[in-house]
Amino acid sequence: MKLAITGKGGVGKTTLTGLLAYAYAAQGRKVLAIDADPSPCLGDALGFSKETLRGIQPIAEMEELILERTGAQKGQYGGYFKINPRVDDIPDRFSALNRDIKLLQLGSVDTGGSGCICPESVLLKSLVTNILLARNEVVLMDMYAGVEHLGRATADSVDAMLIVAEPTARSLGTAAQIRDLAGDIKITRLFLVGSKVRDESDREFIQKNSPGLNVLGFISADPAVLEADRNGLVLYDLAPTLAAEAQAIVAALDQIITK
Ligand SMILES: Nc1ncnc2c1ncn2[C@@H]1O[C@H](COP(=O)(O)OP(=O)(O)OP(=O)(O)O)[C@@H](O)[C@H]1O
Ligand SMILES: [Mg+2]
Repeated sequence: MKLAITGKGGVGKTTLTGLLAYAYAAQGRKVLAIDADPSPCLGDALGFSKETLRGIQPIAEMEELILERTGAQKGQYGGYFKINPRVDDIPDRFSALNRDIKLLQLGSVDTGGSGCICPESVLLKSLVTNILLARNEVVLMDMYAGVEHLGRATADSVDAMLIVAEPTARSLGTAAQIRDLAGDIKITRLFLVGSKVRDESDREFIQKNSPGLNVLGFISADPAVLEADRNGLVLYDLAPTLAAEAQAIVAALDQIITK
């Protein structure tokens, strides 16, 4: 199962990714969680200890690795470098592990305008493609905005994309834009997940205003999200309601994807 999680800024993508990771792990499945946000925070949402997180570095910042694999310095434009560097060992070697959940931080690539080709962007692209095509665990990619950085080849290998939206017109508007972009790169299985819902009327609002996407499930607004964040706790353990909601989303996906 390979999932990409997107949506407008601040809607709850990282929170959902963290909950899904634990819901899959609770089923005894191995999980690779990928933080594609240039300022990583999935590790915190997963409740990984500060010490564990200090032990890993975003891949795009690993200058020696970039040099070793591509034959060129990070940030070097033009020049020669390998366009298909070896990446298959990276997820296991450079991720943090906690309770069957592996976390890999991609880090940021200074694109210097669109269409940039630099060693670190080639390395990341190869890495993501390799993960989507060759890994056999559950892969969850916490994306930071739209889908622009998901290339065509990688998009082909995503089983589904979850677009997260709050019960607001704006976040549903962004969901519609993301749906269009995802359509352009031919991701066919697109679902909406309602986030921070307080009550039935919030659920109805999302159902009614979904931009033509099936609503896969909802994650309730819950003060435990703040509590887990402040105390470095695992939200999934702290909030049984949210854990059950995440399990329901996992079950719904299993039904759809294995069909
Ligand atoms: N179910 C929820 N209940 C209450 N608060 C929530 C919930 N989900 C997320 N939040 C809060 O909303 C904020 C944004 O959440 P989160 O980081 O998960 O969103 P995001 O979409 O990943 O944001 P970004 O676009 O910055 O990556 C956080 O302060 C978080 O505590
Ligand atoms: Mg986030």
